[in-house]
Amino acid sequence: MDPRPVGVFDSGVGGLTVLHECLVTMPHEDFVYVGDAARLPYGPRPLAEIRRFAHEIAGYLEADGVKLVLVACNAATSAALPTLQESLSVPVVGVITPEAHAAVQATRNRRIGLLATKATVEAGRYAELVHTLDAGATLHPVVCPRLVPLIESDDPFGAATTEAVREYAAPVKRAGCDTIILGCTHYPLIRPIFQRVFGRDVTLVFSAEETAREVAETLARKGIDNDPAREGGYRFLTTGDRETFRELGQRFLQLPIQAVERVTLAQLEAAAA
Ligand code: DGL
Repeated sequence: MDPRPVGVFDSGVGGLTVLHECLVTMPHEDFVYVGDAARLPYGPRPLAEIRRFAHEIAGYLEADGVKLVLVACNAATSAALPTLQESLSVPVVGVITPEAHAAVQATRNRRIGLLATKATVEAGRYAELVHTLDAGATLHPVVCPRLVPLIESDDPFGAATTEAVREYAAPVKRAGCDTIILGCTHYPLIRPIFQRVFGRDVTLVFSAEETAREVAETLARKGIDNDPAREGGYRFLTTGDRETFRELGQRFLQLPIQAVERVTLAQLEAAAA
């Protein structure tokens, strides 16, 4: 039995889609979640900068005593997963591989669309993985710069979001993709909008459930899981405004969030792994 918590991070509230699946799969584990709202969005930033942020947060979580770091952000996974795995002593799990697997398995016409941030598309990890798993499949990536700011805005389900989704969906629809990877952990927060825009014949793939399973298996196989009879807990930290995070987090996670702690950028910078 290992009582240490699992560390989870994202640029904002997107990683809560992954945390939710972790809470469902591992109700006996404790979780500590960091949302880097002060530096959101990550997507338009250069990969080297996102990598630096990821090393700061992961280093902070490791110093805080977590037993595994879950990178619940596609941009940070794209930019930093291998270097985080090299520099941390605890296991590090990311979000891209499970989606690539699921998309290659699901597609019937081998045309896969990818909706993601600029950083994730530019890093090219999905293209590499899809090609490794099925060299005959084609990936049609679309950069969606407006979605993360809209999802984190006061009106995530408003007309501007539906308009943006329609615009970003158009090229992958034209390409005839039957499977779409939602390659950003924020996107499942507006899943009904994607479902209406794409309709029933298109399979939407996102990785939260498979990622949670990978975390659970990693903990079990390494013998660092917690007592299955206990009830786990969760803590939230943000680099931004605590009340904004509490409100948005509670709305999207549909879970009472009592207190959100503040972590400063100076604290993160000092902890870089
Ligand atoms: N949730 C992050 C991701 O999965 C959003 C990145 C951003 O902040 O732009 O990529």
